Amino acid sequence: MCGIVGYIGTKQAYPILIKGLKRLEYRGYDSAGVALISNNRHLNVYKAKGKVSDLESFAAEKDISGTVGIAHTRWATHGEPSQANAHPHYSSSENLALIHNGIIENYAILKEKLQSKGYVFKSSTDTEVLVQLIDYIMVTNKLDLLSAVQLALQEVIGAYAIAVLEKNNPDQIIAARKSSSLVVGIGEEELFLASDATPIVEYTDKVVYLDDEEIAIIRRGEELKVVNFKNVEINPEIKEVKLNLGQLEKRGFSHFMLKEIFEQPDCIYDCMRGRINVDADNVVLSAVIDYKEKLLGARRFIIVACGTSWHAALIGKHLIESFCRIPVEVEYASEFRYRDPVIDEQDVVIAISQSGETTDTLAAIELARSRGAFIYGICNSVGSSIPRATHTGSYIHVGPEIGVASTKAFTGQVTVLAMLALTLAKEKQSLPREEFLEIVKELSHIPEKMKKVLELNHRIAGLSQIFTYAHNFIYLGRGYSYPVALEGALKLKEISYIHAEGYPAAEMKHGPIALIDAEMPVVVIATHNGLYKKVLSNIQEIKARQGRVIALVTEGDDVISSIADYCIELPATLECLDPLITTVPLQMLAYHIAVCKGKDVDQPRNLAKSVTVE
Ligand code: M6R
Repeated sequence: MCGIVGYIGTKQAYPILIKGLKRLEYRGYDSAGVALISNNRHLNVYKAKGKVSDLESFAAEKDISGTVGIAHTRWATHGEPSQANAHPHYSSSENLALIHNGIIENYAILKEKLQSKGYVFKSSTDTEVLVQLIDYIMVTNKLDLLSAVQLALQEVIGAYAIAVLEKNNPDQIIAARKSSSLVVGIGEEELFLASDATPIVEYTDKVVYLDDEEIAIIRRGEELKVVNFKNVEINPEIKEVKLNLGQLEKRGFSHFMLKEIFEQPDCIYDCMRGRINVDADNVVLSAVIDYKEKLLGARRFIIVACGTSWHAALIGKHLIESFCRIPVEVEYASEFRYRDPVIDEQDVVIAISQSGETTDTLAAIELARSRGAFIYGICNSVGSSIPRATHTGSYIHVGPEIGVASTKAFTGQVTVLAMLALTLAKEKQSLPREEFLEIVKELSHIPEKMKKVLELNHRIAGLSQIFTYAHNFIYLGRGYSYPVALEGALKLKEISYIHAEGYPAAEMKHGPIALIDAEMPVVVIATHNGLYKKVLSNIQEIKARQGRVIALVTEGDDVISSIADYCIELPATLECLDPLITTVPLQMLAYHIAVCKGKDVDQPRNLAKSVTVE
């Protein structure tokens, strides 16, 4: 979704802003723009449809001087992707330029009001309404920018992170947030602003995460000042970010997605570090221990999430129910938030999110909290909105995920869910000791086994070339493998634009089997576990109808190898940990098919990394 960058200091702002926008490209966008107050005090706005590189070409011959500026990547919500709709937007007076991430829900009423006062609009965006409203309030009430922003935001309904530049006051940026993240970076004689810390970390590790309804007054040569809408000053809490630049670069891989797939063994190791102690036969998630009465006393768990995180939630349900015998429901956050769910203080809600900014998941948390439920977050992005909205939780610690298609975050989420279920099971004594120890030990071996799976990369790349013809794919799995089938199908859809559906294998005969013919690739997760024989029958049913079966099997399986068209042999593991192994080849399969089809793997069309709108 939209990305925001801002700079004020002693250096030229333009290169810093452009570099910052490139760091935010992973969020997904369709146009980009920049506003600068030039050395001769003009407020210059340059915008282009397309990539940041298109913006650079557009601005190449223009005046890009100035030591203060704001910049934006736009993901269209109101109005098509176009130069006119790209941000920054000017006010009619061209005294103000504003960038925005979010949605102004009451923009139509505000626009009508402003049009009746003579304001003319050049775009179809809700954002232009906001900059005109601020301008109107400034002019009619003879207020300064800060006061006008405070008043305007009280009229606005919706979500926003904004930054405003004023031609007549070139030494400040005013920024504010509600439900969309905004971070201020504090350097030597310079201040930065961004949607997340990624554009800031190469300049400083000191940041302030703004909270809802806070306004940052970012002035040249002054310390950061934060106030609320009523102008009450808030003491900004300066935090240290632990990102390093290497984590934000491709390090020789052709795409971030491939790099992130290959990082998984290290990520899972990092995720478990300090939490699993095989020598002491122990697993400890500190948040679980701190709140064990609340968690163990719960009537049930409800896991809310979206997309890939929702698939991890389905695996979490299996893990928690089978290890802890606590009932678990899994809900799409977007549905949960608009139902009237039966939920109260006896429930524990687990919210899972890579970005920590997903609007639907945040809204589901708010609803559950308002009904008294205890909220446990499982998140990747440190300091993001979801961890701050929960009572407690665990980070997955897999590092920044840049590829829009989630990979290492999924396996990190499953790992945390496994540790959560194990910690609870230990406290509850709901798993036989031998079984508990076996799972803990096997979990600690997962990074090594993942490395073996990654050795299949060339073979999977070769296999992928065979299937670029396909317009449809079916993915099948049972038990723990059903969410993996859903995740495999989602990966393929997202980056190759091939239609793919995941089903529980036994559901085939209730309808989807009608789709099977000699053209249809069917990916079956058929590793050696409790339902192996049932899945074998499903494969036979597909072969009887000439479907082309790509089977994920356990090393040494010569039964399925003799029936399936292609087999990918994987190291054996426990059934409950199988998703950590079987997901990886499906990520690689999707990746290589997309590459063969020449698709933009890291920034697939229409998708955003942080879904900060409904
Ligand atoms: O950041 P979140 O985990 O809350 O994001 C949820 C989904 O938007 C996300 O998983 C999406 O489905 C990914 N593009 C999947 O690859």
